[in-house]
Amino acid sequence: METVTSAREMKARCRAWRAQGLSVGLVPTMGYLHRGHGSLVERSLAENSRTAVSVFVNPSQFGPGEDLEAYPRDPARDSAFLKALGANVLFMPKAAEMYPPGFSTLVEAPALAARLCGASRPGHFRGVCTVVLKLLNIAAPDRAYFGLKDAQQFFILRRMARDLDLDVAMVPCPTVREDDGLAMSSRNSYLTPDERRAAPLLRRALLAAEGYLQGGGRDLEKARALVLETLASDPRFEAEYVEAVSTCDLQPAAEACGETLIAAAARLGRARLIDNVIFDPAGGARRPAGR
Ligand code: PAF
Repeated sequence: METVTSAREMKARCRAWRAQGLSVGLVPTMGYLHRGHGSLVERSLAENSRTAVSVFVNPSQFGPGEDLEAYPRDPARDSAFLKALGANVLFMPKAAEMYPPGFSTLVEAPALAARLCGASRPGHFRGVCTVVLKLLNIAAPDRAYFGLKDAQQFFILRRMARDLDLDVAMVPCPTVREDDGLAMSSRNSYLTPDERRAAPLLRRALLAAEGYLQGGGRDLEKARALVLETLASDPRFEAEYVEAVSTCDLQPAAEACGETLIAAAARLGRARLIDNVIFDPAGGARRPAGR
């Protein structure tokens, strides 16, 4: 596996593969890789001739006072992890490579970014869309892989790809979980051992809502209340939001009649945990593999 830091070199490499008739998969990440990222890389390796992974802690998706400086980083470990998996190229640009002096174009999908994480992180999804569009333009992949723990991010990026006629398949991948149900996240490293033991409560809260819907309930206020009640059982959890929205427009829904995302964010100590369930009344709950 080669590591490339220049966008020009990365472009040349990926385009050379395409010219040879090889398909390319891209896994965009911010590094500090875990098994969740590993599952995206494995999926890309299975579905493409070549797999490119980017590791870039993107400053434009962090707001003032957020954890840009503290965000965990371990490039040497990431590189060894990707090499062992069999990734073909690691793109690890510096911020100045992605945002050179004079950079002034931003991409956003305001209607989908107004609620859920976007409500408390203004500008976050603009930064995500901008960097992902740049990465897609650089690597020109056939497919790009994203984890569904960040469900709002995936639905926004899929919208961006459709709206801007991008020639890439945006592939949603199931959330990968620790044995106790906690969704894997680089930010879980902020949890103290006590908080880590408490953290799966968020998953249990969402499963309570999912159980209600699977049992035939359709009242999404009731589903939200179940999540909030469960979270309230541990005073260390500070719920930031619990929302039930349609997956096509991310607007609130009163009843689960189409595919519905129930998503929650909660503070636990220094960590901000997010998780979700996706319920489709036609097919039941989507049960991500790797649970
Ligand atoms: O999900 C992430 O790690 C980031 O938001 C992404 C998609 C790599 C963009 O920086």
